[in-house]
Amino acid sequence: MKEREKFSSRLGFILISAGCAIGLGNVWRFPYVTGQYGGAAFVLIYLLFLLLLGLPIMVMEFSVGRASQLSAARSFHKLEPKGTKWHLYGYGAMLGNYLLMAFYTTVGGWLIAYVYKMAKGEFVGVDSSYITASFGTMLQSPVYMTVCMVVTVLICFAVCSMGLRNGVEKINKIMMLCLLLLIFVLVGRALTLEGASEGLAFYLKPDFSKLYEAPGGLFESIFAAMGQAFFTLSLGIGALAIFGSYIGRERSLTGEAISITVLDTFVALMSGMIIFPACSAFGIQADSGPNLLFITLPNIFNQMAGGRIWGTLFFIFMAAAAFSTIIAVFENIICFGMDLWGWSRKKTILFNLFFILLISMPCVLGFNLWSGFQIPHVGNIQDLEDFIVSNNLLPLGSMVYLLFCTSRYGWGWKNFIAEADAGEGLKFPSILRGYVTWILPAIVFFIFIMGYIQKFGAK
Ligand code: ALA
Repeated sequence: MKEREKFSSRLGFILISAGCAIGLGNVWRFPYVTGQYGGAAFVLIYLLFLLLLGLPIMVMEFSVGRASQLSAARSFHKLEPKGTKWHLYGYGAMLGNYLLMAFYTTVGGWLIAYVYKMAKGEFVGVDSSYITASFGTMLQSPVYMTVCMVVTVLICFAVCSMGLRNGVEKINKIMMLCLLLLIFVLVGRALTLEGASEGLAFYLKPDFSKLYEAPGGLFESIFAAMGQAFFTLSLGIGALAIFGSYIGRERSLTGEAISITVLDTFVALMSGMIIFPACSAFGIQADSGPNLLFITLPNIFNQMAGGRIWGTLFFIFMAAAAFSTIIAVFENIICFGMDLWGWSRKKTILFNLFFILLISMPCVLGFNLWSGFQIPHVGNIQDLEDFIVSNNLLPLGSMVYLLFCTSRYGWGWKNFIAEADAGEGLKFPSILRGYVTWILPAIVFFIFIMGYIQKFGAK
């Protein structure tokens, strides 16, 4: 069998995994969900979930990937005890990756459009109704949105076609470093705006009563925080597991998972540090939902000295985050074809190029030609896809990884610990065995059920 390609360096592995984690979840979804669910109190719950749920599950995903040396499409086949059916979840993981991309590529397209709009100065000197109308006009145009989505997909597959080391690893490293640099510049600018402190207080000073204000009450807020924690780390669908399959056993996996979670959390928190002070400085509501970045921020940049440059930099920052995720998930998707059917990289890229373009269309059309398709309590096609992934496949898939790694009917604790701890570095605390075996799955399941009841039971 052909030997599996490996990353050229440990930094490459950490940055690509961080690149997969850091994405729209950090720069687009985190600020608007935080805005909707009341700010700092929500952020605290989210951080707690990252620590209690995110970290252990990430170590498990990496362990499964590294031990099997395969993507989620085949890893369960290789590690499961004979005669068991864990491998069926391989299809769930594949569905999760495809469905994530089905709406992610559309937002990636919006970002390309906004980098262009900002750079050419479309918003200079216009009033806020123009900015609102401009976003609406974009959404109303299936052709414009399709072109932007297609450009996004083509760029990202082009990077993947250059190979793991020369394309995915190299380009991702450059994008991540630019992203980290841009964050510092933008946070510096946001914090020095007059009137920034009110936004900072909303973001950093917890008011727990706000958690009850969601239509579905406290549980909807907690459900949303859990969904966000899973989304931001791309957990439960093997999106990270794949990168475990590209590394050797020199380093233990807990330390690597901590570095990646810290990087991801840093970018999310810093995005809030850019957005909330800017909202309060220019009197803009932080709870306007998914449109927050595309309607409110151009208004802000428009009122800011040098706004055209700041705005362009900001949307480049967002695009870098989104593209790093798309490239990483495409790499995973490409691997499905190679692992399942032994296809060449080129063949699986060609197949997936067309397939991803096809499945991205409903999301594009859901804003215009198919806008009549609305699910009560959920929303349009994009909302539905996001809901299926973030609030269903990610938590349920994470439970599969949890049970697989802890149950003796799965891969089992001993195998998991041996793999996670192989190599130098921090070991997985074995004292947590009872917690990850019993308590963690129970927490995920309980919140999952309660969240459903609250969300769909709410008026
Ligand atoms: N983890 C990815 C993100 O945050 C999906 O965008």
